[in-house]
Amino acid sequence: MRIAVVPGDGIGKEVVPATLPALTALSEAFGLGIDYDVFDWGADQWLATGVGLPPGAIDRLARDYRAVFLGALGDPRIPDMAHGRDILLGLRRGLDLYVNYRPIVLEHGVIDLYRENTQGLYAGVGGSISRHGAVTVAIDECVYTREIVEHFVRHCLGRLREQGRRKVTLVHKSNAVPNTGRLWQDVFRRELAAFPELTGSEEYVDSFCYNLVRDPTPYEGILASNLFGDIISDIGAALMGGLGLASSASICPETNFALFEPVHGSAPDIAGKGTANPYAAAMSLALMLDHFGHGAAAGLLRACVTGAAGSEAATPDLGGKGTTQQFMDQVMAQLERELPNRRRVDVDGRPAAAGEL
Ligand code: NAD
Ligand code: IPM
Ligand code: MN
Repeated sequence: MRIAVVPGDGIGKEVVPATLPALTALSEAFGLGIDYDVFDWGADQWLATGVGLPPGAIDRLARDYRAVFLGALGDPRIPDMAHGRDILLGLRRGLDLYVNYRPIVLEHGVIDLYRENTQGLYAGVGGSISRHGAVTVAIDECVYTREIVEHFVRHCLGRLREQGRRKVTLVHKSNAVPNTGRLWQDVFRRELAAFPELTGSEEYVDSFCYNLVRDPTPYEGILASNLFGDIISDIGAALMGGLGLASSASICPETNFALFEPVHGSAPDIAGKGTANPYAAAMSLALMLDHFGHGAAAGLLRACVTGAAGSEAATPDLGGKGTTQQFMDQVMAQLERELPNRRRVDVDGRPAAAGEL
């Protein structure tokens, strides 16, 4: 199983290399056969060659790889983020990764946030008119096709049912943005009829954000269009304890191709210091392992990452003094303690007796 690794920019180039040894160790111990190639798409390449996502990249990824593991894009030398849109939005759109899962993991449980990932205000439809070097008219259209909203809503409701969820909330703004808002409401209500286990509710995005921050406990599943989902995922990260903790998976349900990345960006304010929290990147790898059906490996990785976050290796954003590398050393040490047993159990083909693990 080949994975394309794109560290990207800033702390992406720190957290991605730091977390890869854990993936390799798990792949070997569980016999997953995961292999990866690293691609240096990002700001340096863009500034040197003008190339963001190289021509033919999408076809090659779809043909030779099962997934992408991405760090982050964003560089102060490219203030308009042109390269980031080319690469990141290019991957999401080019590979039809229209389901973006961004779990909000809280003490009371997990809120499953699903964000549509390819259309809406990110559709790339728009333009501007300038006069004497100043923009006088600017248009970014919010575009949704019934086809993508239906596929998205149906897939997410199916996932929520599989996870045993009982409640799902559609977040919208149909009072002020009526056309796409009504399309989403209509599709949501029709699709929900086929899921009697799920109780649906609809909330305006502004009051939803207010309610989520005041008390997240009533929420189980959230469906949101592209920009709303982007904003809600950072609010969710704040509720979790910081952007260093929030992970994500972008999936094409038809091909099963997926991209895994932390929710955070390239964090120029701490890039180069070696103190970025690798938790979100590592947990994105756990989402990758889950996605490909390796739940036991994912669970072990999660346990070790959670353990490191509670140890003296915790990074400054968590109130600790650890570095990115010390955090992952802690993860690897715990993995190494667990994995020999795992190897032996696999080889013997029998469960370990009590006390052996
Ligand atoms: P950001 O997520 O990079 O950083 C916001 C704040 O959170 C900063 O104070 C940062 O230090 C902190 N933070 C983020 N991740 C952290 C981690 N792992 N450990 C510790 N602290 C962490 O958001 P921003 O500053 O608004 O954006 C910086 C650049 O990243 C911009 O160019 C933006 O466009 C880009 N961006 C890219 C992605 C992506 O590639 N998916 C996501 C968001 C932002
Ligand atoms: C994210 C980021 C991206 C987005 C940006 C960098 C284009 O904020 O992945 O959350 O808006 O989707
Ligand atoms: Mn974002």
